[in-house]
Amino acid sequence: MRKHLFAGIAVLSLGVALAPPALADPDKALGACATCHDISPAKNKLVGPPLFGAFGNKPLGEGIEVAKWDEGSLDKWLANPAKMKPGTLMSYQVGNPKKRLEIIKALKELK
Ligand code: HEC
Repeated sequence: MRKHLFAGIAVLSLGVALAPPALADPDKALGACATCHDISPAKNKLVGPPLFGAFGNKPLGEGIEVAKWDEGSLDKWLANPAKMKPGTLMSYQVGNPKKRLEIIKALKELK
């Protein structure tokens, strides 16, 4: 009985250790974004607006002076969201231009 209990606990903790982090994203480029954004077609609002279909569309957020999201505007946004929308709640920045390119490429595929 005791032995079984221990075995059970061991299996349980192993499961926790091996479980992927919450909201992990199959698409590596957008993995960090998925903590705050739904990148699935369900388009749920999480911390931020859904990113599925964002590319080519107008911003969902208020106060972002962009007609529609394209490479240029997304690059600017990801480099420093607060520069485009002072006081924005998106506290995440991507400093590396190469990384931004990868992310924008992945965003384009979300349609
Ligand atoms: C810590 C949470 C957080 C992370 C991480 C994050 N975002 Fe955001 N994002 C937000 C919030 C909150 C907003 C809403 C900002 C606003 O309107 O002021 C937002 C807004 C956006 C918008 C504008 C959407 C619209 O149409 O208005 C885009 C595009 C975006 N994020 C892309 C990304 C990408 C791509 C990543 C990953 C590289 C990312 N975000 C990571 C929180 C986050």
